[in-house]
Amino acid sequence: MRRGDMDGKLGQTLMLHNLPNMFADRVLLVGMGKERDLDDAGFRKACEAAAKSLKQTGAKDAVSYLTHANVKGRSHGWKVKQAALVTEATFYEFTECRGEEARAGLDAPKIERMTFDVPRRSDLDEGEAGLNAALGIARGVDTAKRLGDLPGNICTPTYLAERAEQLAKDYSSIKTKVLEESDMEALGMGALLSVSRGSRQPAKLIIMEHMKGPKDQKPVIFVGKGLTFDAGGISIKPGPKMDEMKYDMCGGASVFGAMHAIAELDLPMNVVGIVPSSENLPDGDANKPGDIVTSMAGITIEVLNTDAEGRLILCDALTYAERNYDADVIVDMATLTGACVVALGAHATGLFSNQPALAKALLAAGESIHDRAWEMPLWEDYQQQLKSPFADVANIGGPGAGAITAASFLHRFMRKQKWAHLDIAGTAWTSGGSAKGATGRPVGLLVQFLLDRLEKQKAA
Ligand code: BES
Ligand code: MN
Ligand code: ZN
Repeated sequence: MRRGDMDGKLGQTLMLHNLPNMFADRVLLVGMGKERDLDDAGFRKACEAAAKSLKQTGAKDAVSYLTHANVKGRSHGWKVKQAALVTEATFYEFTECRGEEARAGLDAPKIERMTFDVPRRSDLDEGEAGLNAALGIARGVDTAKRLGDLPGNICTPTYLAERAEQLAKDYSSIKTKVLEESDMEALGMGALLSVSRGSRQPAKLIIMEHMKGPKDQKPVIFVGKGLTFDAGGISIKPGPKMDEMKYDMCGGASVFGAMHAIAELDLPMNVVGIVPSSENLPDGDANKPGDIVTSMAGITIEVLNTDAEGRLILCDALTYAERNYDADVIVDMATLTGACVVALGAHATGLFSNQPALAKALLAAGESIHDRAWEMPLWEDYQQQLKSPFADVANIGGPGAGAITAASFLHRFMRKQKWAHLDIAGTAWTSGGSAKGATGRPVGLLVQFLLDRLEKQKAA
């Protein structure tokens, strides 16, 4: 520190070698700023800096004492959980689509084991619980990220359906069912099917059940938009950044991730994941602006813009969820609107709900695991923007309040059901440049929401 190589600023690191009287080959100093200023984000930043630095060494085994620092209002369990989650995220590499050398992991990090230390023996239980939850959630986040980062020519609706079957093979608690286009036709899913008309890849409705709760417990249902590539259809999108529309299945990926984590943690509760999956492409047979389609709920929809397709596949999946299960709550997540990115940027997921208690629980879960959402209004006032001169509802609501009118469209199908909608358009991946990549959000929020429910049930 006297030589000026390190002054303890948040996120700084300095690797020391051959310290006298020290077991360890290396000691990594990590700046954490002033301890009394250390908050959630600061703690995560320090953990990330440590992991990044560790990633570049040949170390096989490491112990972190960052978890000893005081973080305002946070327990040792929380710190261990966050440290493990941040470390797992920092070590994520997507090599699936690279050449042989990278895939073989020749230059992969050497670390085999990481230990997070807690100050006292009495903190061990809480630390272990935090670590356990983090490892389950990290598996789910990893699954969501890898699915997100896969390109659209590999990650098709059929591919997702196969992955769901695989999940059922890997975990005895998971039961998978896949509806084909002919099944959806029989159910009257005219909205969902209208989106896949322009694609040569058949649409799939993927259902994954994990029923490990009491028989009479009403399930929580997660529904995720699984649009494996969104070109906009006939209302085609402009060229720049269109590649990022491979991420339009990240809502679905987060359902896969959440189901993976739930199965891994073997949570004693009833959870159902539903992923409507399709492509949205222009074609001679694609749906066109002005087309009117009939949804499974019987509500007719005028498709004024074929690029507002997410709500079309979701409304039928939501109706399916409502009719086939006696759900306690339904939560959907979708990369639904560019407008949500304008409103909230990359930090907060947009949250809409017809039930204040559900909104509160989701917000709190996001706050606690640092996968945060922010509530937006779902007032009836916005419904008039969705009026159509020819059908029951239009699929777009004009230039103002795009994220809200999209949510309001879904609300038309969720009148009787406790429901929340998460618009993850800004949070599911980091956009542009070489740092592009899926974030795995909101897997953390969803699993924390379930963990909080379990705690409440135990207490009751
Ligand atoms: N998948 C997009 C939303 C999106 C766009 C997410 C950009 C992230 C970044 C969605 O299907 C879409 O195209 N929405 C339209 C709706 C509009 C036509 C009312 C949008 O946001 O422009
Ligand atoms: Mn679109
Ligand atoms: Zn889309």
